[in-house]
Amino acid sequence: MSSFGVKVWCAVVLVVIVGELPMSTDAQASGLDPSFYKNTCPNVHSIVREVIRNVSKTDPRMLGSLIRLHFHDCFVQGCDASILLNDTKTIASEQSAPPNSNSIRGLDVVNKIKTEVEKACPGVVSCADILALAAEISSVLGQGPDWKVPLGRRDSTTANKTLAGLNLPDKASINSAQPDPNLNTTYLQQLRSICPKNGPGNALTNLDSSTPDKFDKNYYSNLQIRKGLLQSDQELFSTPGAETVSIVNKFSSDENAFFEAFKASMIKMGNIGVITGNKGEIRKQCNFVNTQSIELGLGLYNSEDGMGSIFFMENGDGDPYNKGGGDEDRGPCPIETV
Ligand code: HEM
Ligand SMILES: *[C@@H]1O[C@H](CO)[C@@H](O)[C@H](O)[C@H]1NC(C)=O
Ligand SMILES: *[C@@H]1O[C@H](CO)[C@@H](O)[C@H](O)[C@H]1NC(C)=O
Ligand SMILES: *[C@@H]1O[C@H](CO)[C@@H](O)[C@H](O)[C@H]1NC(C)=O
Ligand SMILES: *[C@@H]1O[C@H](CO)[C@@H](O)[C@H](O)[C@H]1NC(C)=O
Repeated sequence: MSSFGVKVWCAVVLVVIVGELPMSTDAQASGLDPSFYKNTCPNVHSIVREVIRNVSKTDPRMLGSLIRLHFHDCFVQGCDASILLNDTKTIASEQSAPPNSNSIRGLDVVNKIKTEVEKACPGVVSCADILALAAEISSVLGQGPDWKVPLGRRDSTTANKTLAGLNLPDKASINSAQPDPNLNTTYLQQLRSICPKNGPGNALTNLDSSTPDKFDKNYYSNLQIRKGLLQSDQELFSTPGAETVSIVNKFSSDENAFFEAFKASMIKMGNIGVITGNKGEIRKQCNFVNTQSIELGLGLYNSEDGMGSIFFMENGDGDPYNKGGGDEDRGPCPIETV
């Protein structure tokens, strides 16, 4: 995704896999409704949009990061904001599962959004809905498609770190020791200078080398000209006879077709495993279930036993909310160049 390089994987996973999910992902069956907050928080969309618009001015990559956060939420226990829960005595945070660790971004932005939303409509809007709204708003701010986001999700009181490890794509699975022989040699040389052999392995580069900050079909065109960053993506075009070649060609030539498929797929994804009605809860603070909720900034908390028994796990790796710093850096080095 560049912020976007909307990866072919996005389309393949969303359009093909999510497209084949059973009826339970349909909006009606899931009980979600785009006008869910019409009376209780009518301005929620513009509040969320304002925070993201502000942040994206200095950090355009955040738009992609927020879309990915919704994806990584929905594929583990459903779209229930379980990814936002921090480590405590009773929660093993999904944030430190390999696919998320040092890789997900935007948790601090979600907290900013939640703070603003709570000011306007206290106790009403779930963190899971904030993630779904943030994904749509990020698409629009990146000049991608818009859609009416079905709402009414509630937040989980559990997380599942093991399941996050099983269900989400891991960076290790897309790295390869040898670069794709089909890559454009000029592009390969550029990658080699960004991703030195035996380097620290944490360099970043644009997923979409042509229009990194725009949500568009160029990721597909890049594959046609053999400039796909991720080998797993390039193979979708370069593997003779692969079914995905026609998807790449279709989306590359018809941005509208890509947008329509993406919209429908995002709505379906947003319906996965949602909890509604009086199940789950509306979290006060997205990083903690309500029984363990702390007051932001003050370090006060109410624990179930009133004894302050929340135990915060140490996380030695600095800033978990932000991997890499640069505005223009996005994806992992996919190859160990030779
Ligand atoms: C099999 C499917 C997928 C694989 C293998 C995959 C793999 C990856 C990898 C390795 C990264 C880089 C992570 C890092 O730098 O640490 C990434 C980033 C990203 N992925 Fe996926 N992904 C998949 C599906 C999806 C889907 C379905 C979406 C959207 C709904 C998505 C959206 C993104 C976005 C927006 C980024 C950039 C995030 C950022 O810059 O912070 N991915 N993906
Ligand atoms: C966005 O930025 C503007 C100008 O910097 C500021 O006035 C406004 O309060 C910010 N809004 C949010 C929600 O952060
Ligand atoms: C959640 O955990 C991270 C460390 O993983 C920490 O940096 C962050 O401040 C925590 N959030 C809150 C609200 O305490
Ligand atoms: C997490 O998911 C795994 C795999 O579905 C399951 O076996 C396990 O019981 C779950 N753990 C928790 C804490 O829910
Ligand atoms: C590779 O890309 C460069 C520009 O970045 C272009 O000049 C060259 O023609 C491309 N090579 C092939 C074989 O397409």
